[in-house]
Amino acid sequence: MPIDNSNMLKVLEEFPQQCKTALELTKGVSVSGKVDKIVVAGMGGSAVGGDLLKICMHDSKMPVFVVRGYKMPNFVDNNTLVFAVSYSGNTEETISAFEDANKKNAKIVAVTSGGYLGQLAKKAIKIPSGLQPRAALGYLFFPVLGVLVNSNIISIKNNEAAETLHILSKTEEFKAEGERIAKKIQNRTPIVYASELFGPIAYRWKTQFNENSKAAAFCHTFSEMNHNEIVGYQTMSKDKFIAIFIKDKEDNERIKKRMEITKDIISSKVDVEEVATKGSSILSRIFSGIYYGDFASYYLALANKIDPTPVAVIENLKKRLKE
Ligand code: F6R
Repeated sequence: MPIDNSNMLKVLEEFPQQCKTALELTKGVSVSGKVDKIVVAGMGGSAVGGDLLKICMHDSKMPVFVVRGYKMPNFVDNNTLVFAVSYSGNTEETISAFEDANKKNAKIVAVTSGGYLGQLAKKAIKIPSGLQPRAALGYLFFPVLGVLVNSNIISIKNNEAAETLHILSKTEEFKAEGERIAKKIQNRTPIVYASELFGPIAYRWKTQFNENSKAAAFCHTFSEMNHNEIVGYQTMSKDKFIAIFIKDKEDNERIKKRMEITKDIISSKVDVEEVATKGSSILSRIFSGIYYGDFASYYLALANKIDPTPVAVIENLKKRLKE
């Protein structure tokens, strides 16, 4: 019996191509007028792009907020650029946040494959349908980036995108490392760590373990974990948990030192695996970090004889909410 019934492997292997196609989708789409803050509204796989945007814009003066909920914060006004992102276009929280942003006269761009959001939005970037939202991250993120570049709100050098696509296209390396990590995890619960800045990468790994592998997983950041979570390791054990550190060469030197000392301290209680992001641009480092985790969660699903694609429990819950 095949386990990967919907061929998630192919979707993952085509991810570099998806990013390339997604980069083209916003040709000519921009917003005009004053923008002094950005909000990305979305849930689950559709919200991740907002977290990644925050990393990309960390050094910019423009504040970026991610809203995972029904309402916009009160600061949203006509100078706010809101991206309402929902792969299906039918996620109730995102539709409600969209309507709230509309009431507040925000400038809104929707990113969706269609659905109700596709009908409501005056300005929408239509992305291809037929994927699981979490497997469509390229389509969900790059259009947002593209609109910001076209609107002169951020600048991305051509070679940054090219480097990212080049690194991701070496898919076999990501598969091998993902498979290696999955083998190490076995039936233990992974706890994924990254720096505060790269926290969204650790969070993406966690949610991919949840949705693809159907497994419990947790994440936290450095150095916050040094101030609380590390103490919990005193009563943890190698047969139940495994820690995964996502390292980035631009991590602050003190974070690097903290990771080393933490590894030393917790190694008697859990195994620690390390994964390093690749490339020099922020985009490459983000997406390489993510791609390793996508494959790790995929191979963990296979190891546990679980089909990585369906997420029946999410669908059922959404159905029950409509009753
Ligand atoms: C499923 C997935 C979910 C959805 C979420 C919101 O693959 O990743 O987390 O992204 O339920 O749905 P959409 O993305 O359609 O707004």
